[in-house]
Amino acid sequence: MSNDTIQEISIFAVDMAMRAGELIKQERRNGELEKSYKPNDELVTNADLKADELITKHIRKVYPDHRILSEESAPDALTIKDIDSPIWIIDPIDGTVNYAHGHHQVAVSIAYAEAGQVQTGVVHCPFQNETFQAIRGKHSLLNHNPIEVSHKHNLRKALIGTGFPYDKSNLEPLIRRLRAVVNNCQDIRRVGSAAIDICWVAMGRLDGFYESLSPWDFAAAQLIAEQAGAQCGHFSGVPSGVLESLYGEDILIATPELYDELEELLQNASIT
Ligand code: IPD
Ligand code: CA
Ligand code: CA
Repeated sequence: MSNDTIQEISIFAVDMAMRAGELIKQERRNGELEKSYKPNDELVTNADLKADELITKHIRKVYPDHRILSEESAPDALTIKDIDSPIWIIDPIDGTVNYAHGHHQVAVSIAYAEAGQVQTGVVHCPFQNETFQAIRGKHSLLNHNPIEVSHKHNLRKALIGTGFPYDKSNLEPLIRRLRAVVNNCQDIRRVGSAAIDICWVAMGRLDGFYESLSPWDFAAAQLIAEQAGAQCGHFSGVPSGVLESLYGEDILIATPELYDELEELLQNASIT
């Protein structure tokens, strides 16, 4: 892997994210969205599918040997045992419920991994004209300007993001954690796009974020946060044999000054 290649791949990923962003905006401008529901009640629109097709088609054309893990066309996260050989991890629309309700917090998320790590990632927010991108060991940028976490020390003054799953059958542990966090911070935000939540931690609009997610929700944003100085981990154990960097259960990403305190709160609230 040469830096030049990662740089080229990063430029390609940003270009794909921008094109998908335009498509997503166009589809909403065109009027009625076709909506359907996956078996777990997860909403999907025609724009999710079209954006997925646009991105994956181009990757297959330019990088025919690379693997693709995409929420809409190749969603089997269990098949990624390793990220040693090149793999793309894509969420064509993160924030589909926001999208369908006319909100602006919507992102295209594209990550590229090889040699055991996500190497570059982009989270493009077409309605907000904000593009977050990172290259491992190099930089984390918002619209080409370097970003950094808030470095806030005081949890009482901190704004913390979280989210809730589509499947509402086991909300009790989430409510316990929410109660613990909201009682100890300034306030909570439920932005509706995990990729944006994590990028907002990276640039200091949020001071911390926790949720259980799928790899496509956070692969790109986590690198953006890491490179901007965030501490990234899990507030519960990671089972042995799984790929820790893409393990989505009980993720915690925060400015390092608040990580331990949040981790303790979340762990205590998880004990029944
Ligand atoms: C969802 C969003 C949301 C999070 C859910 C995700 P989608 O992704 O990231 O913020 O709370 O857990 O599934 O369905 O809009 O791609
Ligand atoms: Ca998502
Ligand atoms: Ca999605």
